[in-house]
Amino acid sequence: MTTALQPRRVALVTGAAGELGRAICRRLVRDGLDLVAADLDLDASQTLLDSLELATGQRTLAVRADLGDEASISALVATVGAAFGRIDVVVNNAAVNHRSSIYDFDPAQWDHMMAVNLRGPALLCQKVAPYWKAQGNGRVINMVSRCWVAGGPPAYVACKAGLVGLTRSMARELAPHNVTVNAIAPGLLPSAFTLDGRDAESFQRMAHGSINNTPLKRLATPEDIAGTTSYLASTDAAFVTAEVIHVCGGSQLAPFGN
Ligand SMILES: NC(=O)c1ccc[n+]([C@@H]2O[C@H](COP(=O)([O-])OP(=O)(O)OC[C@H]3O[C@@H](n4cnc5c(N)ncnc54)[C@H](O)[C@@H]3O)[C@@H](O)[C@H]2O)c1
Repeated sequence: MTTALQPRRVALVTGAAGELGRAICRRLVRDGLDLVAADLDLDASQTLLDSLELATGQRTLAVRADLGDEASISALVATVGAAFGRIDVVVNNAAVNHRSSIYDFDPAQWDHMMAVNLRGPALLCQKVAPYWKAQGNGRVINMVSRCWVAGGPPAYVACKAGLVGLTRSMARELAPHNVTVNAIAPGLLPSAFTLDGRDAESFQRMAHGSINNTPLKRLATPEDIAGTTSYLASTDAAFVTAEVIHVCGGSQLAPFGN
């Protein structure tokens, strides 16, 4: 009797060139998946892929994609479909942050954040759904933030709380095709995202406040988040869906920024 070879699973990671994205990509490749690194920054994605050690036959692809633009998302999914013929795991990790308060937010920046951080993940899942239907399985992992419970900059928090709602809705709608949908809420760590618009001193102040508020008394590391992504993408998590896993040392118990 011959056993059919299982095709290698394909992971699509958005925001792949960023701090968390790079760690997630490294981990999923180490786990044996084929990888698509999608980001606005194609050169940085390609540099990441060039640094990875691949197993025999393992494939990677860097694609420039703008998660705020529907046509770009469609083109991304078409490119992945043509190259790999399947899409198993989607990690919705790309995000932008225009920091502002309820007193001074700019409606255009609000709309841009909603487009990239919330509509983008929904559109990407909509366009990948035919693959999941055909395959009879799939995984979605949405990167949120502990601020969805703690509060913080309104537009950012609204996107992340919305992404939790989207996680729960898609978990129900995609379940008939054996697709699980979960979210990870990382704790604070230094990245272009969190350093943008802050000098080293103000980041240190924020980091100090965050550590004070964290029962496990440290910042997150990219590997903390990559490890949980790996778990949610694995067969061990086959019966876990509609969940938000806080990977923030218990800081979801504390208010934002104190
Ligand atoms: N760093 C933290 O402390 C922290 C905490 C909680 C949640 N998060 C979340 O983790 C995720 C990753 O954050 P990070 O710290 O790695 O940020 P990062 O800035 O290092 O990476 C973000 C990546 O997203 C890409 N990107 C931005 N806009 C895009 C677009 N329109 N289309 C495609 N790609 C785009 C950027 O080019 C960048 O490579 C985000 O969703 C963020 O909200 C981060």
